Amino acid sequence: MRGRFARIAAPFAVAMVTGCRQEVSAPRPGTPSAGAEAHDPHSYSNPHQVQVSHLDLDWDVLFDEKILRGSVVLTLERKPPGGAAPLVLDTRGLKIEKAETSVDGETFSPARFELGAPDKILGSALTIALAPDATRARLTYTTSPEATALQWLSPSQTAGKKHPFLFTQSQAIHARSWIPLQDTPAVRVTYTARVRTPKDLFAVMSAENDPKAARDGEFAFRMPQAIPSYLIALAVGDVVFASLGPRTGVYAEPSVLPLAAREFADAEKMIAAAERLFGPYRWGRYDILVLPPSFPFGGMENPRLTFATPTILAGDRSLVALVAHELAHSWSGNLVTNATWRDFWLNEGFTKYIERRIQEEVYGVARADMEAVLGRQDLEKDLARLPDKDEILHVDLAGRDPDEGFTDVPYEKGALFLRGLEETFGRERFDRFLRGYFDRFAFRSLTTEEFTAYLLANLLEADAERAARVPLEEWLERPGIPASAPRPSSGTFAKIETQAEWWLSRKVPASGIETAAWTTHEWLHFLRRLPVPLAAEKMGELDRAFRLTRSGNSEILFQWLLMAIQSRYEGAYARLDEFLTGMGRRKYLKPLYEELVKTPEGRERALAIYRKARTSYHPISVETVDKIVKWVSS
Ligand code: BES
Ligand code: ZN
Repeated sequence: MRGRFARIAAPFAVAMVTGCRQEVSAPRPGTPSAGAEAHDPHSYSNPHQVQVSHLDLDWDVLFDEKILRGSVVLTLERKPPGGAAPLVLDTRGLKIEKAETSVDGETFSPARFELGAPDKILGSALTIALAPDATRARLTYTTSPEATALQWLSPSQTAGKKHPFLFTQSQAIHARSWIPLQDTPAVRVTYTARVRTPKDLFAVMSAENDPKAARDGEFAFRMPQAIPSYLIALAVGDVVFASLGPRTGVYAEPSVLPLAAREFADAEKMIAAAERLFGPYRWGRYDILVLPPSFPFGGMENPRLTFATPTILAGDRSLVALVAHELAHSWSGNLVTNATWRDFWLNEGFTKYIERRIQEEVYGVARADMEAVLGRQDLEKDLARLPDKDEILHVDLAGRDPDEGFTDVPYEKGALFLRGLEETFGRERFDRFLRGYFDRFAFRSLTTEEFTAYLLANLLEADAERAARVPLEEWLERPGIPASAPRPSSGTFAKIETQAEWWLSRKVPASGIETAAWTTHEWLHFLRRLPVPLAAEKMGELDRAFRLTRSGNSEILFQWLLMAIQSRYEGAYARLDEFLTGMGRRKYLKPLYEELVKTPEGRERALAIYRKARTSYHPISVETVDKIVKWVSS
């Protein structure tokens, strides 16, 4: 509460306008951030001199060559008008065929451009000379088949097996591998797109989608709300649509659609709950696209159209916290955005917190509490393996791949911090604070420093006594969890713990554990309570009683397979193989491969599986697993 944070509050307004000015002819990633116009160490761009405000995109989607070929027209705002600075964009692996600029947006003439040397993490800066009165730049280009944002699936990797599929994943800094742009979350753009696809396929984007559009090989999109580059998204495949409510629906391959529509039936209730708590949903529609199983994440909050893994289709809506999460990003993340990737916790910590508030409204406090307890367990497990520097919410990622910031820290430690504020100041005051925050920063990006200044001015400073109980500096800048952090608890889980103890001490056999009313959450807690390694005979007993190896619930199965590796329970090995070759969600791949490579035999098994699976994984997952198994390409 004291010291540096108290001092930030006063110069807040000044920091907002001054920011940090940078020499552009030689963009220097790595400069520390300060203020709203902070330099983003993960972008070469110079938005404080030339800011892109709109994109007009145009592509041919070429499945055979695995490339997008087309153009983008960038609308420019010169600062100051008539300035001499060139336009500097981020690119990775793009082949730039032509650069042109225009004064009136109609006539374009060739412009000088230069593509800088590639950096492994950041890609290459593309610098385009601008006449003082230029207002547009047009780039004609093709993507590389290795573009990190694109996954090109063969028909065999889809549910229908007949048509190919393409999807993008731009967060954190992959947008630059399919669009030359200012790839920093500090810049927002509106966009239009024209997309030409093979006939019979359907295209959707993080934009206005028309579910009735003809499959004639031509699609047009418009995104009227300004969004950061990491939220630009496209998918093309044999997808069909089902309406779920007045402003919600689901897109999926035909054979997946009925299950998906049942699973996500509560989406409209979730939006209504979030609106009651945090103000209007400002994006028009909310649809969900279910992707093929190689999608490397659980979900991605692409505006108007969440992208989701099919592994959450459990059949009983038990894993829909993921929908609450991606929907929550419509406030925290998409509306109020982290200015740089070191402020990622502003996106994910707030979203985890809001996710649980939505879950509580829709499914009740008992379920939200169970999810919070499981979340704290995840966090503690992650803290046990992370180096101190990565346990910090305001983590320093300069010089590193921002994807390395994807741990439970921004999520669960961030959410605990906010829950702590809620407990300290009371729900009513905290909710009022959050509503004000979303209004104040709507369609803006902010840094941790700006958030802190806002928090001090609008919550902490009015109540010094309560504020003294919040170790703000410790929360944001230090490793570990403050001792005063909330300890979520669940009465339901207490009963599970007793059952687990009775079974372990042989007071009851597995068949005698009262599991009939257990939900997914109780199963997860039960399994996590068991010590590992567990004797193979005990694993076998559980498996015979509950058929865990055959579980169709991805979270339960994942937990069980992890235990199976740790306990060398061979009865689950075939299923492990099937699971690891059948989906590419990084959250499951990473711990399972990590556990496997801990022993020489496990490592052999990991390699045998990975040899089969690698070509079907997404580039982001490949990058992760390559490191774990120390893959050497032959
Ligand atoms: N925005 C994230 C996914 C992401 C983060 C992609 C960083 C790339 C870089 C998304 O909202 C998310 O958090 N997904 C989680 C699910 C959630 C329920 C915690 C996931 O994919 O596991
Ligand atoms: Zn998220």
